[in-house]
Amino acid sequence: MAGIDYSERIPNNVSLADNRRLQRALEEWHPKFLDWWMQMGPDGFQAKDVYLRTAVSVDAQGWAQFDYVKMPDYRWGLFLAEPEPGRTIGFGDHMGAPAWQDVPGEYRGVLRRLIVTQGDTEPASVEQQRHLGRTCPSLYDLRNLFQINVEEGRHLWAMVYLLDAYFGRDGREESEALLQRRSGDRDKPRILGAFNEKTPDWLSYLMFTYFTDRDGKYQLASLAESGFDPLSRTCRFMLTEEAHHLFVGETGIGRVVQRTCELMREGKTDDVRRSGAIDLATLQRYINFHYSVSLDLFGSEISTNAANFYTMGLKGRFEEGKKRDDHRLKDTTYSISELIGDRVTSREAPALPSLNERLRDDYIADCQRGLDRWNQIIKKHEIDQELSLPHRGFHRAIGLFAEVKVAPDGRVLSEAEWGARKHEWLPTEADQAYVESLMQPVTEVARFANWIAPPARGVNGRPVDFEYVRLA
Ligand SMILES: [Fe+2]
Ligand SMILES: [Fe+2]
Repeated sequence: MAGIDYSERIPNNVSLADNRRLQRALEEWHPKFLDWWMQMGPDGFQAKDVYLRTAVSVDAQGWAQFDYVKMPDYRWGLFLAEPEPGRTIGFGDHMGAPAWQDVPGEYRGVLRRLIVTQGDTEPASVEQQRHLGRTCPSLYDLRNLFQINVEEGRHLWAMVYLLDAYFGRDGREESEALLQRRSGDRDKPRILGAFNEKTPDWLSYLMFTYFTDRDGKYQLASLAESGFDPLSRTCRFMLTEEAHHLFVGETGIGRVVQRTCELMREGKTDDVRRSGAIDLATLQRYINFHYSVSLDLFGSEISTNAANFYTMGLKGRFEEGKKRDDHRLKDTTYSISELIGDRVTSREAPALPSLNERLRDDYIADCQRGLDRWNQIIKKHEIDQELSLPHRGFHRAIGLFAEVKVAPDGRVLSEAEWGARKHEWLPTEADQAYVESLMQPVTEVARFANWIAPPARGVNGRPVDFEYVRLA
């Protein structure tokens, strides 16, 4: 493993020791980051030992080392995936040229904006989740929450590394600003809408990790295609961590579904609220909400920015390398949604400005896979119901559908009809109050809240009843 110096305060494979200027910038930023972490990170657990995975290098042995650690002592490392020798730019106007090892001057501003926008989501989610520890459904879940939190913290480090190493003074200013914005703050909000929403309870959190972290996966995957090699390598390594966040969401909601179905069978009723669980209808409303706000994160169907990012070679498509076309897309089209009166149809649009929509389509297909798995659980309990993704036009605030009201089945509605029925489709205040009433902390080893089933297995080969967080 080249360039990793374990004795450094900041574990890294970016030869930090040889770059005094960058080292000083990061060492100056580190205490400010810690201040932010203590102020805005997990509330109430900073002094506890948590069984966490830490990356100390990017190889198979080093990237997932498990041990007890107090979160403020977590080693927030800087890791890039190994370089691909001879890598070339895979799309756009510069296709075939050697990947950039430095920021191409003419794209400096655009690239910085892309990195800042991605970077801003990382601390935002930590802020959104900071109060959840106090109502954890089990020590296992508590540990997974903190694992995600420290890794989102590390993702912030990853973006700050790029800003400090490649963008000089503006980069350092952006690094500071990333610690100053606050999720949901009126004066200094986070950049993207979904990251200013509240994550008030564990059901919302599991939905967030399934739907919103998955947007992160698709953004990171398209930035991993970037012609700017340090960004590409950074994102490739982040994706290995992101996979765990998605796992927490998918299995977490799966466990809620499992518990709900068990109680439906036992009580021979759909109304499992009486037994202190979350009924399928409520789950469906939470899915509708989190899915729709996450769809907005992909931006408008037609976007000149998206076209430019691609043409410039800065942001590719999902799995660009596996696609068999000219990777320039100047003469091709892509099918996007269109509204004609109150009918949703589709039309062929130029492929380049439709890239947001294409990425959203990849995301939608991926979301559906989880729904299929949850429906399998329902089916196994011989319950004749299904969870589903609402129509892409449902409850949207960005793009074509922002102007209309669309039902989950895709019908365009009048304002009056929407007003009369939206409580059937989106979490109501009563739903939220009910879910909140379930959020009683369960912190005994091997115990789980009544509304969620235990996981199939523990973390890193440990049993489910392992003491994942030492609270004593
Ligand atoms: Fe992240
Ligand atoms: Fe994540």
